[in-house]
Amino acid sequence: MAKLTKLDDIVSLCKRRGFIFQSSEIYGGLASCYDYGPLGVELKNNVKKAWWKSVVQMRDDVVGLDCSILMHPMVWKSSGHADKFADLIAECKKCNTRTRVDHLTDHTEEHTEHIDIDTAMAKSQDLSNKVCPNCGAVGQFTEPMPFKLMFETQMGANVDDSMTMHLRPETAQGIFANFRNVLDTTRVRIPFGIAQIGKSFRNEVTTKAFIFRTREFEQAELEFFCEPGTDEQWFEHWKEARFNWYLELGLKKENLHFREHDADELAHYAKGCVDVEYKFPFGSGDWQELEGIANRTDFDLRQHQRGMRTLNKWYESKGDMTKIELADEAEEYLKGPLSYFDDQKKQRYIPYVIEPSAGIDRSALAFLVDAYDEEEVRGETRNLLRFHHALAPVKAAIFPLVKKDGMPEIATNIYNDLKKYFNCFYDQKGAVGRRYRRQDEAGTPFCITVDGQTKEDNTVTVRQRDSMEQTRVSTDQLLGHLRVKLEA
Ligand code: GAP
Repeated sequence: MAKLTKLDDIVSLCKRRGFIFQSSEIYGGLASCYDYGPLGVELKNNVKKAWWKSVVQMRDDVVGLDCSILMHPMVWKSSGHADKFADLIAECKKCNTRTRVDHLTDHTEEHTEHIDIDTAMAKSQDLSNKVCPNCGAVGQFTEPMPFKLMFETQMGANVDDSMTMHLRPETAQGIFANFRNVLDTTRVRIPFGIAQIGKSFRNEVTTKAFIFRTREFEQAELEFFCEPGTDEQWFEHWKEARFNWYLELGLKKENLHFREHDADELAHYAKGCVDVEYKFPFGSGDWQELEGIANRTDFDLRQHQRGMRTLNKWYESKGDMTKIELADEAEEYLKGPLSYFDDQKKQRYIPYVIEPSAGIDRSALAFLVDAYDEEEVRGETRNLLRFHHALAPVKAAIFPLVKKDGMPEIATNIYNDLKKYFNCFYDQKGAVGRRYRRQDEAGTPFCITVDGQTKEDNTVTVRQRDSMEQTRVSTDQLLGHLRVKLEA
């Protein structure tokens, strides 16, 4: 049988070991939706913790937020999402499958998230030679049309006052909407950032490759507010900081690079954008976006000031966004609530924003792919996940060598002691070699075995996942020994 691709191996390991399951599997599954299992949720939480530590905890100039997913409809009118957050699609007249036009053109799918819809519409689209990815028909497409990507839902029980709402397609807008609240309630001064991790939703036309592109996903976003004119410098700062974060968490340098966006790819709000790309093992095995770092200028704060001035029109239109035109920028916009007054320079301005925007699910996939390894050990294949210690779902597994001679009792005591400090796992079933292999597949960096010698000299073996090396450590030094190694 042909060797499966690495992604297939990873999908199979994720299912087998409880990292990631298809959503609603008992009903045949729901396309492009996934559930994180017992090991997966630990991995994902660790990715989020590592992001938060680096972007918020370790910095004096960033604070956090956790905003609601549902927001006032004017948010999406002002941000441009209501009118512009769409993909250009064409339908195959033979099989009625709709495909993103940019996935049929010279642009490779791997390099495009969402091309600006105005730019896409302005381009003349010749689809006469394009092949339907579903049925193979050539040149059988309808005229391209925009397809809106935000999910709609209704809020409220009464027919009269129920409103059409949208699930947020990015977490960023909650941050912009709270800019004034944060300024008024904390001591932050520009330059400073506001960070948030949370779910976003997009009715993607094409989903893809396991958890790479799904319709519900988690983002980790930072909006870093700075004085206009200092934006380029902060852009460079965040490019470097974010790239290093992936390297520090163990992604191999040869699998990571930057890619500058071409002008026609830039989102409607961006002056410049660079992607951190990872060499994922699917599609053509090519580079694909892990994170975008954008210079959003003062676009969003200005737009929300216009939106705030438009609010009455929104009420008059009974919430029909197609009937609203955003108010022009009044002369006095510079003094509006989303402006900033620099007390030292005695200047008021609308801050510029640098935005590093990462996908938590996509990062988790990259960490899984990069950590995955297979090696031959004494004629058998050993599958393992060489996770960075900070990301490993379980830090230490504790085993009695056999289920007798007091070994389970000693091992249970060690387990109860260690689990106060980090995530541990106790296992006494089956041959110890098999237990090691299970932990290798879970990416557990240390296995601790209580054996016959433990009773004599109070030592246990500590086996390292990557080298399989075993050392004897005395039980009273075990916690300190592991903590030093885990934090290294
Ligand atoms: N606020 C800017 C923004 O949302 P984006 O490039 O559209 O920018 C940022 O998204 C990151 O979110 C991407 O680099 C990717 O990691 C993640 N992401 C976007 N769409 C996704 C999807 N459908 N499934 C999984 N992750 C996604």
